[in-house]
Amino acid sequence: MKNGCFQCHGAEAQGGAAGPRLGPAGVSFARLSYVRKPTAEMPPYTTKVLSDRDLADIYAFLESLPKPAPVSSIPLLAP
Ligand code: HEC
Repeated sequence: MKNGCFQCHGAEAQGGAAGPRLGPAGVSFARLSYVRKPTAEMPPYTTKVLSDRDLADIYAFLESLPKPAPVSSIPLLAP
């Protein structure tokens, strides 16, 4: 929220019109460093505006998102 990621990726990292889904369990910690040097449309976040500590906290948040139930456990969707 504080760093504005939600504006493009959604408050629950679900993705939106301006940014792809990042969770749950969507992005590895190594891939999260994309924020330092994005190669397409995303604005860069240097260590001046987003510390390594805060980036680690964002990763912890993404990991904390509840995983969806397996499709086979949902009667309406089970094969
Ligand atoms: C202005 C919109 C915008 C904001 C704000 C933004 N992003 Fe993004 N992000 C994007 C877009 C668009 C992409 C897709 C690649 C591209 O165009 O650069 C992306 C891609 C990514 C990726 C790579 C995803 C993948 O699967 O390869 C990560 C990780 C990411 N963003 C994390 C963040 C984090 C963390 C923040 C906040 C610190 C943030 N983004 C803020 C728009 C945004």
